Amino acid sequence: MKKLTQIAMTVAFASGVSFASSAMALDGGALYLNPAKGGCSACHGKDAKTPIMPSYPKLAGQNADYAFNQMKDIQSGKRNNGMTAAMKGITHLTNDEEKKAIAQWLAEQ
Ligand code: HEC
Repeated sequence: MKKLTQIAMTVAFASGVSFASSAMALDGGALYLNPAKGGCSACHGKDAKTPIMPSYPKLAGQNADYAFNQMKDIQSGKRNNGMTAAMKGITHLTNDEEKKAIAQWLAEQ
């Protein structure tokens, strides 16, 4: 029984943030680093200010509302320039609440 509870906890924890969102605040920093949520850090850098290419934006310190809106516009296709396609493919991996949590975290960096 104890083992079962442990497994249940592990699954709940691993499936993560949608479970957590009702119970506690989302961890924007953890979402940002999570490959399953799009692996933002792979392109934008772990610290959000050392992107892998000079043509990719630094995100640290950006206003949360602005960052959130850009994520939404990149996802919807409203924002679409030469570089946008690189990111568009991962934008569905986070929901609005998760995007907001990441945007808030970015603003605090
Ligand atoms: C495959 C590379 C890649 C990944 C992964 C990626 N991005 Fe991006 N991101 C980009 C590129 C390139 C741009 C610039 C797009 C453009 O020029 O329109 C961008 C733009 C942005 C912007 C707008 C910045 C601005 O100044 O307008 C935000 C915010 C952002 N990304 C957040 C994220 C978050 C959060 C994640 C993870 C959920 C993520 N990105 C994952 C490549 C990526």
